[in-house]
Amino acid sequence: MAPISAADIPTLSLLYKLKKLNASRLAPVQGATPTHNDRIGLIRGDITSLQVGAIVNAANNSLLGGGGVDGAIHRAAGPSLLAECRTLNGCQTGSSKITSAYSLPCKKVIHTVGPIYDDIRPDNSERALKGCYTSSLNLAVKNGLKTIAFSGISTGIYGYPSLDAAMVACETVKNFLDRDKTIDKVVFVTFEEKDVRAYNQVLPRFFPPNTKTSTEQEKAAEEQKAEAEAKVGQLPDVPTTDPADADYAQKKQKHENNK
Ligand code: APR
Repeated sequence: MAPISAADIPTLSLLYKLKKLNASRLAPVQGATPTHNDRIGLIRGDITSLQVGAIVNAANNSLLGGGGVDGAIHRAAGPSLLAECRTLNGCQTGSSKITSAYSLPCKKVIHTVGPIYDDIRPDNSERALKGCYTSSLNLAVKNGLKTIAFSGISTGIYGYPSLDAAMVACETVKNFLDRDKTIDKVVFVTFEEKDVRAYNQVLPRFFPPNTKTSTEQEKAAEEQKAEAEAKVGQLPDVPTTDPADADYAQKKQKHENNK
């Protein structure tokens, strides 16, 4: 399968525009915002085909491969991935480690270890799953990566309910994007139908469509332009004499004294 570039992964803005994603009938969560709709992507398919900065693997504590997406990533990357993983000495649940991507089209693989869902103590599972997303995003920033694609961590063999996992993923990614400006795109990769349904239901509750009409957007752009022009007016005058000019230093001092 030909690699899919990060630019070709549809954003929420585009999906809303194409009516492939719809506003939620349920109330948006507290703090819901369309601000990040151009920085969040959603795609269903094989994560190993994505030509992004990093894909996030749902690994296990040994980091020595397994089934599910872990197996798919190792198969696509080739044996060198396992050889590098062997040097990492495993990974704790809720944490992540990064490796090269070898034969994969992405630049790096971030291996995160999700929780085995514990329905007796779901809070512990939620905390660990949040840790997977946060530690993966932090690793992407630390390694200068601009796009990161998450598989549905723990929603397969580890049994995390898809809807609950999508809520944790969206909340954690929103909190991250609220403060980070270095990542260009965070992609949610769905595979099974249950996860497609979960993200179609949950994403609009955290990242609703932008309901500002175009005139409002134009007005906002005009206001920003006016603000920018006002700022330009406050800049110091462009020097009119050559700094090498004898009395430039005197004029500069006088300007400083008048500040
Ligand atoms: N591309 C994208 N997503 C995939 C792919 C793929 N090629 N294959 C599976 N998935 C999805 C599954 O549908 C699920 O939503 O990845 C998600 C994670 O499922 P698992 O791979 O079963 O991972 P997880 O539930 O976290 O369990 C981890 O499974 O594979 C072993 O070694 C792994 O022991 C670890 C455990």
